Amino acid sequence: MKPLAPGWKKAARLALLVGVLLGLYAVAVARHDERARIRQQPVRLTPGCAEKLSRYGLEAGRHYVSPYALARTGQAGVRQGYSDEDVRAIQRGCNIIDDLQGQQAADPARERWNAARFVRGTHTSCDHCHQGIGDKQTAAGEPQSGSLSLAASWVMADMYDQFTGILLPYELRQMQCYINSSNGYKPNVADDLIRDVTAYSRFLAAALDLRFGNRYAEQGIDEVTASSTLKRGDDYVRGAALFQEKCARCHGPQGLGTVVDGRVLFPAVAGPNAFNLQSRNNFSFVSTILPGFICRNMPPGEEGTLSSQDCRDIGFYISNLPRPAGDKQGPLAALWQQLMMRVMPTLVRSVEAWQRPQESGRAGT
Ligand code: HEC
Ligand code: HEC
Repeated sequence: MKPLAPGWKKAARLALLVGVLLGLYAVAVARHDERARIRQQPVRLTPGCAEKLSRYGLEAGRHYVSPYALARTGQAGVRQGYSDEDVRAIQRGCNIIDDLQGQQAADPARERWNAARFVRGTHTSCDHCHQGIGDKQTAAGEPQSGSLSLAASWVMADMYDQFTGILLPYELRQMQCYINSSNGYKPNVADDLIRDVTAYSRFLAAALDLRFGNRYAEQGIDEVTASSTLKRGDDYVRGAALFQEKCARCHGPQGLGTVVDGRVLFPAVAGPNAFNLQSRNNFSFVSTILPGFICRNMPPGEEGTLSSQDCRDIGFYISNLPRPAGDKQGPLAALWQQLMMRVMPTLVRSVEAWQRPQESGRAGT
């Protein structure tokens, strides 16, 4: 074949490039349209969300009156109601908090497309820390203090962040949680995901009849400082023993969590599926938050049974187990943590089998 003239060659290369770019653009447009279509369709709620949203009387209408507030105080203000689109956003937001990775969805790729793509690891769900699908209550129906309530957090929507000192709107505080706690990638501030969770948090605040700008005890963490203990320091060995006694039956002897039939029963507190080294939830990064979470929220059903010192010791122990590095720690720290996560579980198991051969059959993850 006669070779093409140099000018033609250039034109052909250019045409190819333009063709590829147009192809990519067409794919992006098609994906975008598909998502827009999904947002128009009815939402399949998780059982937890179906129960919660019906208890709080979510439906489209011109006005909203909270059944929860009515039942508790005999009166409730009339608030602005919700459109069909609002209702779907609130429902999707609830599903995201309850089941971030779509383990309860019929088609996770379709129903949680707007959440799972931002999370690494297979365990994380917002509900693991923001418990009770964002508004944990005690057996008596009172809000649980120090339970990271999303409702109480929304009424303080634009709050000074105590660590960065910056005024962070609710959207940015959500984004921060993806990096800090969920060990994933950061969604865009205008992402559907952020909007849906904001809509859900706002609805929760209306359902619980919270007042905008008020500080409630269930917002954030009831932190446990070193000075609130006997000041004898945080004890790794004591923490390890307490963890085996109080926590291992659910979270596993090495904190790697419990998964049955692909469903996370108890999330990992260490290892590749847990929050990362730079998560605020991690003791070594901010030493007051994990103990605060444990003291107020764990073990489920026995909340408040551990002393401040217990919670600090356990927190100190957990934070020393291997887990993914934070995204600001660089490749060396990441490599080291990957190595430790691979080597440690087997090493610990074999040492235990050697020390206590009769019990080695029990040693799982
Ligand atoms: C491993 C535990 C954990 C997970 C999982 C988690 N969070 Fe958080 N979240 C925290 C902690 C800890 C804070 C900071 C609390 C503080 O500083 O008092 C926080 C703070 C927040 C805040 C700001 C709250 C406030 O009052 O300042 C929002 C909003 C939030 N998270 C949303 C989410 C969303 C949405 C998800 C799921 C994608 C999620 N979080 C998953 C632990 C977690
Ligand atoms: C009866 C089982 C059970 C016991 C015992 C238990 N947990 Fe949990 N833990 C859970 C469940 C379930 C969750 C997820 C929250 C939810 O779904 O409500 C959780 C969540 C957590 C989380 C945050 C979630 C995450 O992604 O890491 C931490 C930290 C934690 N537990 C620590 C502890 C500690 C420390 C103890 C011991 C003092 C303990 N747990 C005892 C069941 C348990």
